[in-house]
Amino acid sequence: MKTIDDLTTELGGDLRGKRVLVRSDLNVPLDGTTITDDGRVRASVPTIKRLADAGARVLVTAHLGRPKGTPDPAFSLAPVAQRLGELLGTPVLFANDTVGTEAKHITAALTDGQVAVLENVRFNAGETSKDDAERGAFADELAALADAFVSDGFGVVHRKQASVYDVAERLPAAVGGLVQTEVEVLKRLTDTPERPYVVVLGGSKVSDKLGVIDNLIDKADSLLIGGGMVFTFLAAQGHGVGSSLLEADQLDIARRYVEQAAEKGVDLVLPTDIVVAPAFSADAPATVVAADAIPDDQMGLDIGPDSAAHFASIVSAAKTVFWNGPMGVFEFEAFSGGTRAVAKALTEVDGLSVVGGGDSAAAVRQLGFTDDQFGHISTGGGASLEYLEGKTLPGLAILEEQSPEDPA
Ligand code: 3PG
Repeated sequence: MKTIDDLTTELGGDLRGKRVLVRSDLNVPLDGTTITDDGRVRASVPTIKRLADAGARVLVTAHLGRPKGTPDPAFSLAPVAQRLGELLGTPVLFANDTVGTEAKHITAALTDGQVAVLENVRFNAGETSKDDAERGAFADELAALADAFVSDGFGVVHRKQASVYDVAERLPAAVGGLVQTEVEVLKRLTDTPERPYVVVLGGSKVSDKLGVIDNLIDKADSLLIGGGMVFTFLAAQGHGVGSSLLEADQLDIARRYVEQAAEKGVDLVLPTDIVVAPAFSADAPATVVAADAIPDDQMGLDIGPDSAAHFASIVSAAKTVFWNGPMGVFEFEAFSGGTRAVAKALTEVDGLSVVGGGDSAAAVRQLGFTDDQFGHISTGGGASLEYLEGKTLPGLAILEEQSPEDPA
């Protein structure tokens, strides 16, 4: 894929005076207007800074949440633009529309090295439209703001949306440093993992992870299952799971995975003990029971301490680890032990440890770990899973089409 260096050459060897539209993923969790995890903003800084330092006039486009194609103040990027300015160490301009009068005015007034953030791109119905013409018309307006496009929002490359896909067809386009790094790391997980290769999956639903299990069950040496999805596996083995989360329509699939793992010699590891409570609540009384003896009136909210220690020992001995999905309800202290133990074990890996985005990235930060304790924390939740499922990601495919001679 074309890099920023290639793009610079294409633009005459100098970015000064050039307006570069950067698609970042600034979709961060907010509590009111307070950002509760700024990981994605921090991850977006190096590419934006690099372009600004080279004298480009940088226009950042991004989404926040899933507004319905019209402006909605609850999803304004204004607080995120403010945070980006703090991290860049220089104020950034903010346009209160995406392609309207203010965006055009700010774009025209930008000076070399200045950065502006455009309001939530999903305030425009064209952004997410399934109609190619409608999406294309909006992409035309976005493209008209700039001389070149840099795709750096890894978390959205699985979306065929105007600011991710269509705009790359309309401007000289390159991949940003963040997307490049993410792809390199995920490629190592799928193509050349050093062994032992351990995959840890958690989160509430088996159905969210089918593709990734299908694809990685052939590649991993061990597959550790935690989180709410455990109970579907336990139920598939005929155990009672009380009032725990259960996907009754996935029981056959869970059974099939256990059989498949055995056939392929993959060590599929389920917890042997579970932390249970009578209710989903931070102060519900927690007890530890055997995984095959969950009482009818209790629900499982975390893997138990023996399982956590066992999972941790497998993880810390690995050379490559991919982890996606918390082991339990880590937001409640009493049920955070499993997630904490797995996170800590990842920090001890002598090799490549990768935390898949979304909840797992939030979990490690909330539990007090720092980003530099891990090999890589992906900024993509859905995007990194789809990559590992082996799917074609439209935002990457379009950049590859722009540089056909380079299959990378
Ligand atoms: C994410 O949070 O995974 C990305 O920002 C993509 O958001 P989306 O799922 O709303 O497209």
